[in-house]
Amino acid sequence: KKIVIPSLSFFQDELKGEGVVKSRRTLGELAGIFENQDAYSQLPLDQLAYEVYSYLPEREGTPGGLYFGITQLYPGKVGDEYFMTKGHFHQQEDRSEYYWGLEGEGMLILMDRERNTWAERMMPGSLHYIPGGVAHRVANTGNSVLSFAACWPSDAGHNYEEIANKGFSARLVEVDGTPKLR
Ligand code: PA5
Ligand code: NI
Repeated sequence: KKIVIPSLSFFQDELKGEGVVKSRRTLGELAGIFENQDAYSQLPLDQLAYEVYSYLPEREGTPGGLYFGITQLYPGKVGDEYFMTKGHFHQQEDRSEYYWGLEGEGMLILMDRERNTWAERMMPGSLHYIPGGVAHRVANTGNSVLSFAACWPSDAGHNYEEIANKGFSARLVEVDGTPKLR
């Protein structure tokens, strides 16, 4: 059964929507984020991990504007850890964001400035408010593509460096068939 979500079809039709910027990340571009280096080295570096369709109506850094994006995260694991997005804080610390689930199953992993990490289940229709100062990353815990939408301020910016250097304080891994933070 196909559920048609207008915003999703806007991003997926042949034109991909006017003004939509598509970006993609391969496993090779996610080097260092997974714990199990042996398992990672067995996987092809050019395998697609996720794609992001972004609608950026304002110039980056414009205060007061809103950006919209849809991420399609493919299913898979590296050892017992699920495929996941790179994850980031916002450059402007106090900028918030909404994520909401469109299709598939996953978990939104969140970490505050004190490095407390928690997770929220993502599913079609789930809504997630990410307050400023909270790093965010999504893992696909299912067997099909996980799609979610995001809306964030056009002056938020992405700070990948801290997560690339220090990671989150917990990892989402599969234990006895279910996702657990470790
Ligand atoms: O703005 C966001 O938070 C999202 O659109 C993400 O950029 C997207 O999900 C990809 O994740 P990341 O930017 O952490 O690679
Ligand atoms: Ni963000």
